[in-house]
Amino acid sequence: MGLRGLEAFDLFYGEMYKERWEDLKASLSAPKKHVAILNPHSGFEFPSEGSILNGLSFKHQIQDIFPHPEKTTLGYMNYYLMDAASILAVEALDPKPGERVVDLCAAPGGKSFLCALKMQNQGLLISNDRSASRRARIHRIFDDFIPKTLQTQHKVTSFDATKWCLYEKNLYDKVLLDAPCSSERHVLDDAKELSLWAPGRTKALAVSQFAMLASALDIIKVGGTVVYSTCALSKLENDDIIDKLYKKRGGRFEMVTKTFPIGEKTEHGWQVLPDKEGWGPFYLTIIKKLK
Ligand SMILES: C[S@@+](CC[C@H](N)C(=O)[O-])C[C@H]1O[C@@H](n2cnc3c(N)ncnc32)[C@H](O)[C@@H]1O
Repeated sequence: MGLRGLEAFDLFYGEMYKERWEDLKASLSAPKKHVAILNPHSGFEFPSEGSILNGLSFKHQIQDIFPHPEKTTLGYMNYYLMDAASILAVEALDPKPGERVVDLCAAPGGKSFLCALKMQNQGLLISNDRSASRRARIHRIFDDFIPKTLQTQHKVTSFDATKWCLYEKNLYDKVLLDAPCSSERHVLDDAKELSLWAPGRTKALAVSQFAMLASALDIIKVGGTVVYSTCALSKLENDDIIDKLYKKRGGRFEMVTKTFPIGEKTEHGWQVLPDKEGWGPFYLTIIKKLK
């Protein structure tokens, strides 16, 4: 049996991130800061002073710790707390009113909520997730944040993301694939998970992530875009997925280049790592379907 646990984890990510790894590992265990995204349906306003991240299209404020979100007198939650890096996935997707958009792995629903804000209940927004208990959280977030009358163009579905393409093809304008991933921050936080960690874990995830991406590309129209994102550090689940796409589907897609207020360029996409600004880890890449 191969090496497992912290030693294997250190060896694997040390080789991947070289001299950056020790700082990166320490930053994964540091307390997280948050962005609060204002819920425009709540009537709440942030205090006028407060730090923000220039370049985000959502009204927001940044603090290390926020009071727990609460309902206003209008009956809706005042703000949604996220990692700033996660917001970039929706900025990259840029869903517009009138478009047909799928959030393929949507639960608990933070990014779907942001999509809904941008789409203003015009077009179609599908939030999909295979897990029933996690789908319940999507419904809860939408009901807590958005009036029912403004949810008529929102649907929650339960497809297996790897198989959706067997039932529908060339139908949607945009797909967000925020894929299940290694989530090394959580592994480091959980002694039992860490003791069981082995490189096979990220290799197996990369196989299902590629199947989901292939399915996502099949269900969008020619000219449509897929944003593929993970909160993984492992390159196997990030740029390497796109290398594989070039091998299997070269000529049928092109990468879209975009820069963001935080993070750094990678070979095929964009990555936010917590050793620099405290946000992330988060990786995203934008793929346009050509045929
Ligand atoms: C990284 S989380 C998504 C987080 C979400 N996008 C958000 O911003 O709140 C990945 C999700 O994928 C779902 N999932 C895992 N395998 C799936 C599959 N084969 N098809 C559909 N959903 C799947 C999990 O239940 C989990 O909720």
